[in-house]
Amino acid sequence: MRHNEAVPIGWPLPTDRLVLPLIAAPMTRVSTPALVAAACSAGIVGAFPTSNCSSNAELDEWLDEIAATVRTAGTTADDAASVPTPGPVAANLIVHRANKRLDDDLQTIVRRSVELVITSVGNPVPVIDPLHRAGCRVLADVASLAHAHKAVDAGADGLVLLSAGAGGHTGWANPFAFARAVRRFYDGPLVLAGGISDGTALWAAITLGYDLGYMGTKFIATRESGADPKWRAAVVSASLDDITLSTAPNGVTASMVVPPGGAGQPAGSAGHTVSGVDAITTVAGVVAATSTEWHRARARTSTALRASGRSGLGASSLSWTQD
Ligand SMILES: Cc1cc2nc3c(=O)[nH]c(=O)nc-3n(C[C@H](O)[C@H](O)[C@H](O)COP(=O)(O)O)c2cc1C
Repeated sequence: MRHNEAVPIGWPLPTDRLVLPLIAAPMTRVSTPALVAAACSAGIVGAFPTSNCSSNAELDEWLDEIAATVRTAGTTADDAASVPTPGPVAANLIVHRANKRLDDDLQTIVRRSVELVITSVGNPVPVIDPLHRAGCRVLADVASLAHAHKAVDAGADGLVLLSAGAGGHTGWANPFAFARAVRRFYDGPLVLAGGISDGTALWAAITLGYDLGYMGTKFIATRESGADPKWRAAVVSASLDDITLSTAPNGVTASMVVPPGGAGQPAGSAGHTVSGVDAITTVAGVVAATSTEWHRARARTSTALRASGRSGLGASSLSWTQD
């Protein structure tokens, strides 16, 4: 069993800093400074791909803007006591060789000591050491056991397990089997990417052995997202059955949403979690709803455990109500 020694077991557990063990997932074209700042202000992790900035110089501007917006949200709230401790910002570095800005963006992240960095679409090895020297923690996004082993060996502080049905460049592994397979050799932080459509799913992920969950698709349909109106509308009207796989955007298999009743053309990328999106709302609205669902799911588990203790029956024999 292993984890990387420099990292306290369970880091970055949400208990002291997050209202929910949740990351607003990094999304190309979707993650704007407004979305990231709203996520952090709501008390979860706000992530964005550095490639969403039009230049390396703009990355500095985004980091300033996000920090300023989060600060302002904390000082202008009517009820200061109800303002959660802001969640951290996570910069997502696309470590694929096609990313020509990788070195420059890495230098900016190192100079700014961004607390949390998520690597994706490639080998994290070349960036882990410089990031660690700057005090950054690195979560590596992986889609196979082989890549999970490599990332742990390279010193990643945690893993994002990219599973089947995730939006964007999707994984293929079943998230149940993936978690349990990785837990056979790794006891450090694990994040589930894919399938978190509400607080009930998030709670289930934690009981399965994950420490945090990604939510991507649900944030596409927020007012703060960078998605165009057609794409947002497709995410609201579509269900899981409207998600298709395509290599069209850039040769890598991605989950795409085809608007129901449309001409069959994808409106953009989205995951199976579209079935959990009913309306265009705000980032704070998504976090609040997820929190309600999470607490209900926890309460249901507690009730089931108490009842199973009384009756001697397993929890599986109890009738579970739906939200
Ligand atoms: C539109 C879109 C763009 C994405 N872009 C990125 C990206 O730039 N970097 C990355 O690491 N993951 C990216 N992803 C994947 C998400 O970070 C995350 O794994 C996924 O959204 C989780 O599944 P869900 O959408 O069902 O919640 C993207 C996902 C979507 C839907």
